[in-house]
Amino acid sequence: MKDRHVLVTGGAGFIGSHLVDRLLARGARVVVVDNFFLGKRENLADAVATGRPLEIIYEDACDLGAMREIIERHEIQDVFNLATKALEYSFHNPAGAFAVNTESTLALAELLRKGHYERLVHTSSSEAFGTALERPMTEDHPRNPTTPYAAGKAAADLLLASWVRTFDLDIRIVRPFNNFGPRQNWGAYAGVVPITIDRLRQGLPPILHGDGSQGRDFVYVEDVAEGLLTVAETPGARGRDLNIASGVETPIRELLSTLCEIAGFDGDWIREERRTADVDHHVGDASRLAEVTGFRPPTSLPIALERTYEWYRDRLPRVSR
Ligand SMILES: NC(=O)c1ccc[n+]([C@@H]2O[C@H](COP(=O)([O-])OP(=O)(O)OC[C@H]3O[C@@H](n4cnc5c(N)ncnc54)[C@H](O)[C@@H]3O)[C@@H](O)[C@H]2O)c1
Repeated sequence: MKDRHVLVTGGAGFIGSHLVDRLLARGARVVVVDNFFLGKRENLADAVATGRPLEIIYEDACDLGAMREIIERHEIQDVFNLATKALEYSFHNPAGAFAVNTESTLALAELLRKGHYERLVHTSSSEAFGTALERPMTEDHPRNPTTPYAAGKAAADLLLASWVRTFDLDIRIVRPFNNFGPRQNWGAYAGVVPITIDRLRQGLPPILHGDGSQGRDFVYVEDVAEGLLTVAETPGARGRDLNIASGVETPIRELLSTLCEIAGFDGDWIREERRTADVDHHVGDASRLAEVTGFRPPTSLPIALERTYEWYRDRLPRVSR
């Protein structure tokens, strides 16, 4: 990545900002395109503070003309596509959530096909698979999305696979399972880890939806950022579609128990109805990524949860109960 000109869509978001930190550390010149739907400038504060070459542009990654102009002006070679609107947003605006996942991908695939840059690393999601029909879920698991967000992710997978087959382009699809870690959005559309940490640090009980048996494959964000870079840097990953997963299914109630232990909370939990669009089980097969790149996410769940708790504890605003 040294001296490469790299564009990151959604780079002011959770995963994107960690990727930007690593790209700068590797010596890349980085351009972030973000419309700040959920992205935050403060996510890029560490990156800005390094003084390394970084430009932050407020733009819509779905706008092909704007993206072409930015890619040409900055002589971009590599694009990491992370722009998205949160899964929960697709319950309020299904068309909007679907569209960003497909239109940003289509614009970037077309700009690659027309030779405006060299390599696209696209971020898919395990959500594209829906509930596991087999476990662990390989990259060949049927795409069976349960939400409009996930349908957009599945459509983008198929779009890119067809562009690779038809035009032999350097496209690499990376499919993270459930991410968590510092900088994950804790406001509107927050995920289970930041919501639970926010409650626990205020002494409030965690909320469990359903019986908590629904399982997820949790991966630490630092590992995902490193995995994205490793995929970009590995020649054999060209044209491949690769999961980033821990390979371990953790029931949500176990996740909450670990967080309670870290926070020193031993009270009762609040029980709520199970959410209908929640997938039952998700666990990824990470072996293809390891075979192709040698990379396996190194951070264990308890250590990563502890680091995440510490990070939020000191940063979340005090809210009166
Ligand atoms: N967080 C997870 O658990 C997870 C799991 C699997 C896959 N992913 C994928 O990883 C990528 C990053 O996810 P994240 O968790 O960091 O989400 P995030 O919401 O923190 O980041 C997405 C960023 O995209 C920006 N954005 C939204 N619409 C845009 C647009 N039209 N143009 C430019 N920017 C736009 C948002 O402002 C935000 O900064 C996404 O593609 C997501 O589907 C995330």
